[in-house]
Order: sequence, then C-alpha cells, then structure tokens
Amino acid sequence: MLKSPHLLGIKDLDEESIQLIVKTAREFKEVLNRPIKKVPSLRDVTIANIFFENSTRTRLSFELAEKRLSADTINFSASGSSVKKGETLLDTVNNILAMKVDMIVMRHASPGAPHYLAKHIKANIVNAGDGTHEHPTQALLDTFSLQEKLGDLAGKKIAIIGDILHSRVALSNIYALKKQGAEVRLCGPSTLIPKHIQSLDVEVSHDVKSTLAWCDAANVLRIQLERQQIKYFPSLREYSQFFGINRAMLEELPKEIVLMHPGPINRGVELSSDAADSPHSIILDQVENGVAVRMAVLYLLASRAS
Ligand code: CP
Repeated sequence: MLKSPHLLGIKDLDEESIQLIVKTAREFKEVLNRPIKKVPSLRDVTIANIFFENSTRTRLSFELAEKRLSADTINFSASGSSVKKGETLLDTVNNILAMKVDMIVMRHASPGAPHYLAKHIKANIVNAGDGTHEHPTQALLDTFSLQEKLGDLAGKKIAIIGDILHSRVALSNIYALKKQGAEVRLCGPSTLIPKHIQSLDVEVSHDVKSTLAWCDAANVLRIQLERQQIKYFPSLREYSQFFGINRAMLEELPKEIVLMHPGPINRGVELSSDAADSPHSIILDQVENGVAVRMAVLYLLASRAS
C-alpha cells in the first residue's frame, strides 16, 4: 500500500513504493494488451483532470488510464474557465470537489501548487507536473521503461542530457534513479545545469560524446524555450551542434544504449529525426507505458482510500 494519500513528487516516495507502482503497472500493461482492455477497479470513483498548462501526453494518458479503470472523469482546462475571471485555485478546486469528485490530477505552472492544495483539501491529489519542480508519473514511467530494457537499475549508468535547469522531468528522474541505486550523470551547457545539483549525488559533464559512451541509457530533454526569459546559449543551431544527438553518434558507440525523451521533441535541436526514430529509441514505448503506470498510481491511491 502507498504511504501517502497523494502523489506529489518522487522526493518523498520511498523505493518500496516506486517498485510497488512499477509491479502494479506491469500487471496493468498485461491487461492493456488483452482484447478487452477495461477493468472495473475504479467503478464509482470520480476523477477531475485539471490542467492549467498545456499537455498532450500526460493529459490523454491520465484520461485513458481512468477510462480503462472504469472511473468517471471530468476535464478542466484553465483556458475557457472562470479562472480567467479571477477565481482562485482553491475556490476552483473546492467547487469541483463539491460535485462529489474523489481525486484530482493537476498540472500547474507554479512549483508547489499541488503541495499547497494537499494542505487544504481532502481528495487525493496526483501531481501531473508543477512548473520546473516535479513530474512524478513521468519519472515512474521512465523507471518502468528503463527496467523493461535494463532490468534492475542498481548500478546502471543513466545520463540526463539537455535543459536540466528548467526540467521537472530531470528532478523527478534524479530522485527515482538515485533511490534505485543507479549512477546518474547530467550533461548540458553549464548555463542549463543548476548550481549545487551535485548535492543530489549526480555527476555533471558538458561533453555529450563521452557521456553517451559512459551510459547505458540517455534520457534527452527538450530545450524549454517557453521557460527561458534570458538567453542561455547563443542560438538553437549552436545548441544542436554542441549538444544535439544524431543517429551516427549512437552507431559509433562501443555498446548499444537506450535512447529516451519525455516529449514533446524539438526535432533537429536536442535530437535529430534519424535518432528519435531509430531502433535505439524507446520514446513511443515510454508513452505506451505511461497509461499502465498512471493506472497503477490511480488504482493504488484509490485502494488506499477505500
Ligand atoms: N512528457 C510530458 O509531460 O508531455 P506533455 O507536456 O505533452 O504532457
């Protein structure tokens, strides 16, 4: 059983809970490969997906996970809502909960927004990404996908390459990987690596070729231009030249590595199309696995409440 009624981040999740979610997700993945993909596990549970920031994968993946579990779902996007008339986050959520909603899945641009809600409301909360802070279900589906390829992650070498500074995926992955005993190396321009990040027991490199040669898997992150108020590198062209990964670089390596990306990809910037679509890439497996992992999270949180 999960110890917390919420999934707010990986920082406060212990390794036992990570493995419980992964094990449960494996069972749901098996269900998703059957002709009848739906189970009645969350019948009579109502879930609101409230998204204050854009999303394709996470929003659809949660919605599908909920439908596969037979939950009732409602979807809320900040655009077109009364948030635009000045309603507060807490008022918005309390109004949604007044309609007898049991669980909230929330994406918000402000770091800590789901943690704030958890202090003020009774429903279960799942963080679907809070600003540059955490994206726990992404790290869990990345763990699931890595375990499928590499087995136990203890001692495995995982590189996270790109815009670490603005990435909630990086932080949640660092927590998840370190809890499982993996070695983690961050790689990118020094302007996009947070100061003092080594305190999380990770290595830092600014050399992509040697990082690719070192790792068993490379998780490549998007350059998040929408979060960059100042210039962190001279141009996208220069970034791509020094930190972009193409298929030839992967084929030159002495061993096969696994190539990951949480999406959306900036094709031609952090990854060339021939790398993103190569046999090294498990990018679409990550998306597939996201549904099973989110089913596991919702099921385990709902089981805790009942
Ligand atoms: N990986 C991810 O969070 O993608 P979306 O922003 O499309 O949800």
